[in-house]
This record gives sequence, C-alpha cells and structure tokens, in this order.
Amino acid sequence: MLNRRNFLIQAALFSLFNKNFYNIAKANTSDLSKKSELIKKTIHSSKKKIPSIGMGTWLTFDVGNSTKNILARTKVLKIFFDYGGELIDSSPMYGTSERVLGKCLEKINNDFNLFSATKVWTPNTLHGVKQIKNSQRLWNIDNFDLMQVHNLVNYEGHLENLFQLKEDKKIKYVGVTTSHGWRHAKTLEIMKRYDLDFVQFTYNIVDRESENYLLKLAYEKKISVIANRPFQGGNLFKLIKNKELPIWAKEYDIFTWAAFFLKYIVSNKAVTCAIPATTKTNHMHQNMQAMYGLLPNEKTRRKMSQYIKNI
Ligand SMILES: NC(=O)c1ccc[n+]([C@@H]2O[C@H](COP(=O)([O-])OP(=O)(O)OC[C@H]3O[C@@H](n4cnc5c(N)ncnc54)[C@H](OP(=O)(O)O)[C@@H]3O)[C@@H](O)[C@H]2O)c1
Repeated sequence: MLNRRNFLIQAALFSLFNKNFYNIAKANTSDLSKKSELIKKTIHSSKKKIPSIGMGTWLTFDVGNSTKNILARTKVLKIFFDYGGELIDSSPMYGTSERVLGKCLEKINNDFNLFSATKVWTPNTLHGVKQIKNSQRLWNIDNFDLMQVHNLVNYEGHLENLFQLKEDKKIKYVGVTTSHGWRHAKTLEIMKRYDLDFVQFTYNIVDRESENYLLKLAYEKKISVIANRPFQGGNLFKLIKNKELPIWAKEYDIFTWAAFFLKYIVSNKAVTCAIPATTKTNHMHQNMQAMYGLLPNEKTRRKMSQYIKNI
C-alpha cells in the first residue's frame, strides 16, 4: 500500500534519481554528438526529417509493472531523447512494452520529441480498431504518428481502416512490417499494391536479403524504410566478440561495433531509420553515437560487409 509517508519518500527518491541520471547522461555525451550534426533522413511522403536512429521495444521494455523496472527503462529512454532520438517502435504483441513505455514517457514529463510508431496485430479488423485505441491509452497519447500492420496479419482489413484514419488525420503515416526475412514476396506485393508511407523489415550487415528487392522497390516507390533487428537480436555482438574494429572505421566516426553495425544500415540510401533495442544505458550511449558524424560511402560499405564476412 502506498501511504502518504511512502509516497513522499518515493517522490523524493525519484526526483533525486532523475537529476542524477540526467547529469550522468549529459556527462557521458561524447564529443561526436557535441561537434557534429545529428543525421536525419527524410520521410518521402511528407518531406519531414527524422533522426536516423530510433528505438525498438520488443523484449527490452516487456518488463512488467515494478517501479524498479520502470525507473531502469526510464533511464534508457531519457538518454535516447537526450541525444535527439525520436522514433520509438512498439506493438501490442510485445507483452507489457506499450504499458511500460507509457509509464516511462510520463516520468520524463513531456520533455521530448516523440515520433510514435506502433502496430495493429489481430486477425479481426474490428478488434484492430479497439486495439489501436488501447495502444493510445497505454502510451498516453492522443494520436500515433505511424500505425503499421504487424507481420502483415489481416493486412487487407487493417489497411482499409488505417488509410481512413490517415484521411481523418487520426494518424500521419501508414505502414506494414515483417522480420527475420519472412514473407518478402508478399511484402513486395503489398508495397506495389498500396500507397504505403513506411515499410519495416529486417536489414543488418549479415541479413542482406532485402537489398535484392525490398530496398530497391522502396527507393523507387519512395516508401520510407524502418530497419528492424539491426543487431540480429544481439547475435552480431557474439560474432565480433574479442575482435578489434578495423582501423579505417575511425575515418567514418565509428568507434564502437554498435556504431559500425548501425552506420552500415543507415548509410543505405533507401533506409530511413534503424531501431536498435536495449535494456542498458551504456549501450544506448553507444547506439546513439551512430547518429552523428560521417556516414560511409558505397565503397566503404562494401569493405565493411566484406570485413564481417571474413571474421
Ligand atoms: N515484425 C516486426 O514488426 C518486428 C520484428 C522484430 C523486431 N521488430 C522491432 O525491431 C526492434 C529491434 O529488433 P530486436 O529487438 O529483435 O533486436 P536488435 O535491436 O537487433 O538487438 C537487441 C539486442 O542487442 C543488444 N544490444 C543493443 N545494443 C547493444 C550494444 N550497444 N552493445 C551490445 N549489445 C547491444 C541488446 O541487449 P542489451 O539489452 O544487453 O543491450 C538486445 O539483446 C524490436 O525491438 C522491435 O521494435 C519488429
């Protein structure tokens, strides 16, 4: 039970904690973010620019309701916003993630620029309408920027509803998602058939199947791309364990493996944003560094993927 005394103690602790982690976040902000411009990419359908690194919430924000967990994720989120991050991706499929995210946003107290992206994930179209309202309640926001059909489930029913919501100005952008290299042929078909604003699929330095068709078509049709699983769910860090970064990476302001992997993705001209997920503040610092400094050119991108192949 939260009596008045406990409430006051918790409020005082939270305020102290808030100040501390804010200072830590600022103190750790490396030179790169201070001396170079944040890399933004343009959303084709609106010409609005958004930061090239966003944040995923699958597993990492599905941590239940305990105050301890909410405070830990609030720290991570605060650092994301401090570096200039905007796009956050979630889904009703991600357990308590949307609820936890809503609580964290509330704690940060509106001190952020949020580009909200979630999904509708149900075989039933009418249930989808309710699900979207529930997500708004959980995030505690009036309208979403981007609403995506998760894993193409019942895409015909949901897309009809989402385009109507866009027309009614209840959402700004419509998209579909897939991942793990699944259902690329179907995704291509949907990209050709509908006027999507966004498409989301897996793209990272080892999972490059999407370069063959999906990225090409997205670029031609001017559909903005969100790259999910940028670290292949964390496997890429196992791959390079105990391996040194190549010396030449520094020429592109790449000082960590996280930045190496993320800059490879967002330097593809068809990619709008990559959405790494993390539970850790030090990892969030590393990931957000990829949003600053120089991006590799095509020749260097080939060198990067070759380097990883040879590991
Ligand atoms: N169908 C879909 O729509 C779909 C499917 C899959 C994913 N997604 C979206 O894409 C997002 C990202 O994909 P993902 O969560 O599967 O995987 P991911 O971002 O590729 O990898 C996450 C893993 O990488 C680790 N990590 C993060 N930063 C790190 C760093 N700097 N150094 C070392 N390890 C680091 C994390 O562990 P720590 O917690 O220890 O940092 C976590 O285990 C999801 O959260 C979700 O929003 C969408």
